[in-house]
Amino acid sequence: MTDRDFARIAERIARMAGIVLEEHKRQMIHSRLSRRLRALGMGSFTAYLDHLDAGRDPAELQEFVNSLTTNLTSLYREAHHFAHLEKHVLAPLSQQTAPRLRIWSAGCSSGEEPASIALTALEAMGNAPADIRILATDLDTGMLARAAAGQYPADRAADIPQRFARHLVRSECRRFVSLPPAAQGMIAYRCLNLLEPWPMTGRFDAVFCRNVMIYFSQPTKAALIDRFAALLTPGGYLYLGHSESILGQHGDLEACGETVYRRRTP
Ligand SMILES: C[S@@+](CC[C@H](N)C(=O)[O-])C[C@H]1O[C@@H](n2cnc3c(N)ncnc32)[C@H](O)[C@@H]1O
Repeated sequence: MTDRDFARIAERIARMAGIVLEEHKRQMIHSRLSRRLRALGMGSFTAYLDHLDAGRDPAELQEFVNSLTTNLTSLYREAHHFAHLEKHVLAPLSQQTAPRLRIWSAGCSSGEEPASIALTALEAMGNAPADIRILATDLDTGMLARAAAGQYPADRAADIPQRFARHLVRSECRRFVSLPPAAQGMIAYRCLNLLEPWPMTGRFDAVFCRNVMIYFSQPTKAALIDRFAALLTPGGYLYLGHSESILGQHGDLEACGETVYRRRTP
């Protein structure tokens, strides 16, 4: 991979997905995209990039994006956020006569984050009827397909608290766990690029966008934070990853600690 190839890859993924590729990722990019070159029988990165530039292969453009996303996730990752959700969002909701809740998992990867939200909601609401919907989005179509399949490796569920784990359904081979239908039915999976216009019209009581913006430039992060804030109901919460922040003060959001932010009430 020449310097020029790397620069073209970096420019393209920044433009398409907002992802900033740093020089130290070069070896990883080389190995991930080499698989695409082999799949297409191409002998050089230059030929591959020329193929993408020609614009006649939208499926390969998607493969290119899928190859360059980082998808690490797990059930109950950063577990304090689910404890916060339970205490500050679900507990008050369970007191209402017609509970209604809208949550967005933005950058859901293979689905463990929305699954954890659904499981927490199921445990918190018990058998009480509630209108709870979780929108789970990502731009990586491979990850979304895995998320929609709704199966998680059983060994990765071993550490989650028993009161949530008890709802999980074990596969016959015992290698996978899945959500019970009542929790799975709360989640809708959609392909969505955060950089593009968002089709949702209603507001959300909580937005999880964790470990997604770390890959973006400062202006992209700032623009997204404004858009998330505008989409939250007053008093709604924005959950970011442990190394992320709203970049200083924000007129509409107040910090609640542990990378949780609350939309101010008028
Ligand atoms: C590290 S995973 C985070 C998964 C989960 N939120 C968590 O914290 O465990 C980051 C996800 O962000 C997605 N992503 C990256 N750029 C995106 C974009 N422009 N629009 C939507 N999703 C994006 C990637 O595909 C990836 O699945």
